[in-house]
Amino acid sequence: MTQYSKAPVQTNQPSHLMQTYARQPIAFVRGRGAYLYTEDGTEYLDALSGIAVCGLGHAHPVIAAAIADQAQTLIHTSNLYEIPWQTAAAQKLAEISGMDEVFFANSGAEANEGAIKIARKYGNDKDILNGKIIVAEKSFHGRTLATLSATGNAKVQEGFAPLVDSFLRVPYGDIDAIEKLALTHPDIVAIFVEPIQGEGGVNTAPQGFQYLQQLRDLCDQHDWLLMLDEVQTGNGRTGKYFAYQHTNIRPDVVTTAKGLGNGFPIGAVLTSAKAVGVLAAGNHGSTYGGTALGSRVVCTVIDCLVDEAAILNAAKIGQYLADEFNRRLSVHDVNVRGFGMMIGIELPKDCAELVARARDEKQLIINVTAGNVVRLLPPLNLTQAEADQVLDRLVPLIEDFLG
Ligand SMILES: Cc1ncc(COP(=O)(O)O)c(C=O)c1O
Repeated sequence: MTQYSKAPVQTNQPSHLMQTYARQPIAFVRGRGAYLYTEDGTEYLDALSGIAVCGLGHAHPVIAAAIADQAQTLIHTSNLYEIPWQTAAAQKLAEISGMDEVFFANSGAEANEGAIKIARKYGNDKDILNGKIIVAEKSFHGRTLATLSATGNAKVQEGFAPLVDSFLRVPYGDIDAIEKLALTHPDIVAIFVEPIQGEGGVNTAPQGFQYLQQLRDLCDQHDWLLMLDEVQTGNGRTGKYFAYQHTNIRPDVVTTAKGLGNGFPIGAVLTSAKAVGVLAAGNHGSTYGGTALGSRVVCTVIDCLVDEAAILNAAKIGQYLADEFNRRLSVHDVNVRGFGMMIGIELPKDCAELVARARDEKQLIINVTAGNVVRLLPPLNLTQAEADQVLDRLVPLIEDFLG
């Protein structure tokens, strides 16, 4: 009988996959908590969590059981009908975020498409056609046409002109630049930024989270929407459920995905205040958005985050990691930036080679972004002992690399 539970053995046949990824020459076949395993049983400590996705670690038993149970009960009916798990997931998200309404999508880019549509519709409703959205340099919002147009990285956009011409770009953190734009652009409808830029290098604004308060004030003054991309920073990653909860502001639109499903593909757009009701019946939709299965996963992930105090742990262990990297690397020219379990270690030179070296020499999974920033996105429930393992494996490697 076919062994449906086993992935097929890889052969030397040419791959039929579209070659859109520069994949590392390794395949993990199972995981548990903060660890990944190859077919031969080699164990790797995962300080990346599938790029900020598996916040509760791999093969979490409660989430796995919920998926199995729901798969045997009901996976999908469509949004033609009431979906009680979707209603419950929206309620949990609203409670934990202070936002009012939720639309479920399937990925970060798709959630951001929803936000961009809200901004467009918000403008259209005020007779502003092709309303402009202010976005930041070095931002990343996804790979669909509208989201890559919003993204502040020429490499992501190359070859895809004409781009969606709805975006005005400013340096991240620069309030004066926005005020200048406001003088010449009566058609601005929204500001859309990440509270911390992930792909761009784990960057906060020079004024820290005060940036968000300043953006909120500008949006109130001009009747713009404040839209935050929390695809990466959301779901506990920075030590609060959403990063804006480090401040007292409430955005009009928040997007999220990644950790929302702990690996199950699901995203969401949350609205409050001015953005509530902008999208009405018939304005937006998704066949798979908020299936019974996906929505139950969201409910279970939020329950587990709360039950395991994983967000508090992310704040505490994340701070410990940042402090220890700072202390142990203090004689080197490095800049450590840490916000919960979102940690960037900026080195004085390009360090892409550290990914392979950490993997092959230390059995440690890390990422390098923006060329010279070692990016760590460990599970939120990383233990102190596991954090020490990350430090003990990575610090000597960075020291050796910097010489
Ligand atoms: C801030 C941010 N927005 C959007 C995206 C796109 O999400 P997805 O890959 O799920 O479409 C990402 C992915 O890295 C991200 O970090």
